[in-house]
Amino acid sequence: MKALVVGSGGREHCLMWKLSLNPAVKDLYCAPGNAGTSFIGKNVPLDTIDDIVRFACKESIDLTVVGPEAPLAEGIVDRLSEQGCKVIGPKQSEARLESSKIFAKNFMRRNNIPTADYEVFHHPNRAAAYIHSLREFPVVMKADGLAAGKGVAIVDDRDDALLILRSLMVERKFGKAGEKIVIEEFLSGEEATIILALDDDSFCLLPSSQDHKKVGEGDIGPNTGGMGAYSPAPIVTAKQTEKIEQKIVLPLVEGLKKEGMLYKGFLYIGIIVSDEGEPFVLEFNVRLGDPETQVVIPRLENDLLEMFNAIIEGELHAIKVQVDPRPMLGVVMAAHGYPGNYERGMEISGLERFSNSSMDDVLIFHAGTKRKEGKVIANGGRVLNVCGKGNTLREAMDKVYKAMKYVHFASGFYRHDIGFHALTEEFSHSTKKH
Ligand code: AMP
Ligand code: GLY
Repeated sequence: MKALVVGSGGREHCLMWKLSLNPAVKDLYCAPGNAGTSFIGKNVPLDTIDDIVRFACKESIDLTVVGPEAPLAEGIVDRLSEQGCKVIGPKQSEARLESSKIFAKNFMRRNNIPTADYEVFHHPNRAAAYIHSLREFPVVMKADGLAAGKGVAIVDDRDDALLILRSLMVERKFGKAGEKIVIEEFLSGEEATIILALDDDSFCLLPSSQDHKKVGEGDIGPNTGGMGAYSPAPIVTAKQTEKIEQKIVLPLVEGLKKEGMLYKGFLYIGIIVSDEGEPFVLEFNVRLGDPETQVVIPRLENDLLEMFNAIIEGELHAIKVQVDPRPMLGVVMAAHGYPGNYERGMEISGLERFSNSSMDDVLIFHAGTKRKEGKVIANGGRVLNVCGKGNTLREAMDKVYKAMKYVHFASGFYRHDIGFHALTEEFSHSTKKH
């Protein structure tokens, strides 16, 4: 069979790697891919949805998996399905759960899914009047549309809120994404990610994980796409998983059905567990997370192709998710300047030590890389994900940070504290399943 993975990040490299473990997958393509995906399959330089649809039809691709949000929001699944192509991912109308914060918040309100209280604004004057009326800070301000994970600001006072309002709605820092905004209650607690696989009728929960969104150690500095992750998230105990299923997942799945949204693919639920132990939804993403995928998918013992086929055939109810109990941790190596402007073209050394067949339980998934004259060079903000498994989170962490000493490119940097938070006293005994 022939499979096509759309995207070019660490998530897509990880999906290619996992698919390649099934010998039935004879031809693997990635569009456009990175250096890592080119070692597993064939990269195809397709830039537009039209190009991808044409390629999938011409090559008789049996299955397409869409990694990133932008093509999903643009309707790639609708276009491929119209041509009779099998594809993993939600249609454009369901992708609004990520592409519009307002759509997602209203969906949660209609379906009694716990989330922060919020107000929606279509006009800056109204939003400014609301900010002036607020008595308590912080609050959270969110651009309605897609902004590569950077359209959210936690503001500590009125002046700060008015500045953010100006940059979003007047200066249009994120373009059309800031046409409308949401201002919501600030929730404090511990964050975690739950990813669901969904067909029209049933769902499976993948292992939990936790991302590190800020660029700097100690969670400071600007938000990024994610600087590292680990799985499982210790806050998601078996009891908390049950709570999340009851309070969030079941109303969500019912809500999708009730509102006629036939969702086939992965749905990422960004959760915050309050200090009282109650789970709230921060956001939905209509896809697998990056870098969460790189620590979640390698822990799945199920065959990925089998899971994909079950999603397409509406047979997910027959899949029992099997999870390697060993925790996994991944650290992102980024180019200096990320998440702002960064350089490209630096040669990466030390990769040969870690083949994809894994050394010492370490796997390296490429993100912004490409091949040039027999070398692998940096070609993006997030460049590599160094991921490792261990019998404990501490062991996984030690393996990853040891491996990182061998891999190098000029101006590369990474956070040295990925996962440390989970090793605090209260979490140190729990490396539970999910
Ligand atoms: P989002 O893209 O909506 O998940 O927001 C990005 C990040 O902002 C989240 O991962 C949280 O760290 C933070 N955040 C978003 N909404 C809230 C909220 N209501 N309260 C506290 N933090 C939030
Ligand atoms: N790591 C967060 C995301 O994939 O959106």
